[in-house]
Amino acid sequence: MSKILLKNIKGLVQAGENIPLIKKGKEMQELPIIENAFLALENNKVIAYGKMHDLQEENTYRNHEIIDAKGCFVLPAFCDSHTHSVFAKTREEEFVDRIHGKTYEEIALRGGGILNSAAKLAEMSEEELFNSAQERIEKIIACGTGAIEIKSGYGLSVAAELKILRVIKQLKATNKIKIKATFLGAHAYPLEYKENHRGYIDLIVKEMLPLIEKENLADYIDVFCEKNYFSVAEMTEIVNAGKEYGLVPKVHVNQFTRLGGVKKAVELGALSVDHLEEIDDDDITVLINSNCMPTLLPGCSHFLGIPFGDARKMIDAGLPLALASDFNPGSSPNYNLFAIWSLACVKMKMTPEEGLNALTINAAFAMGLEGRNGKICLGSSSPIILTKPIPSLSYLPYAFGEMNVARTFI
Ligand code: NIG
Ligand code: FE
Repeated sequence: MSKILLKNIKGLVQAGENIPLIKKGKEMQELPIIENAFLALENNKVIAYGKMHDLQEENTYRNHEIIDAKGCFVLPAFCDSHTHSVFAKTREEEFVDRIHGKTYEEIALRGGGILNSAAKLAEMSEEELFNSAQERIEKIIACGTGAIEIKSGYGLSVAAELKILRVIKQLKATNKIKIKATFLGAHAYPLEYKENHRGYIDLIVKEMLPLIEKENLADYIDVFCEKNYFSVAEMTEIVNAGKEYGLVPKVHVNQFTRLGGVKKAVELGALSVDHLEEIDDDDITVLINSNCMPTLLPGCSHFLGIPFGDARKMIDAGLPLALASDFNPGSSPNYNLFAIWSLACVKMKMTPEEGLNALTINAAFAMGLEGRNGKICLGSSSPIILTKPIPSLSYLPYAFGEMNVARTFI
């Protein structure tokens, strides 16, 4: 049994017995920090925490590994509620093409983009795919992520979509962190279905979904609702079919164009709507009257050079916000959520506190882990980050590119 006592912690962050399940509007600025604190873990569960002067006789902890966290912060590990972490190959050639002036859309229309990833993935065995994804998960954890959602969507055929989802299932079984699986068969139309949308939707609805249910391969259903991808009507049909199989919607909307997907997704009971680089007042009103978590992906905005989501407008209107990496080989090849935190502060004018709430409490909500992950409380087994000695909490998003995780406790 592992027993650990962290003492002299400079700041124990997001710790308490009354942390809300989500934080919205002004509450996003609230971040409890216990200064000069201790935290005791047994078998990966929090058994005690508080101010150093309330630390019981050290005798109680004589069998614990004692870690002197002087100058260091302890925070709940991040939740990454939107990733495409199972893929075959990176796509730096498209990155170079974009430097030379090609747009993401032009590259995609020529068979690059998602179709490029699908072609590469079709050739890879399930075992190879698992091994590469497992390596990534280990790096992701080392960067302080303690729960992750992973989408399919680089398969686009019955066999390849199932291959990805089986890999995710295996990742769930192999790793101690919580992993959620999202079926994103509706990520793009494969070339052979470009003029036959009906045919591909039928494939998703009649062939993929029943097999996914049979093997219990997914928690969520996603659709890339966008011009040249899936229309609002197509998203509606696919999401409704997914719901019949018990899958909760979490969808890609408003990345490049506003098609009315936000309103529809909310009506369909989406747990989250993700991207939202383009948003208008009507979308905000719809979201305010919903339980849906708006999720912004600044890594994608940065990497594609597209607008950043208007976090300020959304928070100031009273909305909650989650942030995620969107880790994928095409539009956001970054899984380090410290970088996302920094981008959110610099480019979207979120405060460090708002950013951390968006990456912990609210991100946990966006992947069905509310109350379980993203906070530190008695009995909790949420993973925890110990930082290196740093001058302040704001230093973490400030010192972009610096690695300040000393250890992630899972
Ligand atoms: O979330 N927008 C759709 N899907 C991914 C990008 C996919 C790709 O380019 O490989 C995203 O940005
Ligand atoms: Fe995505």
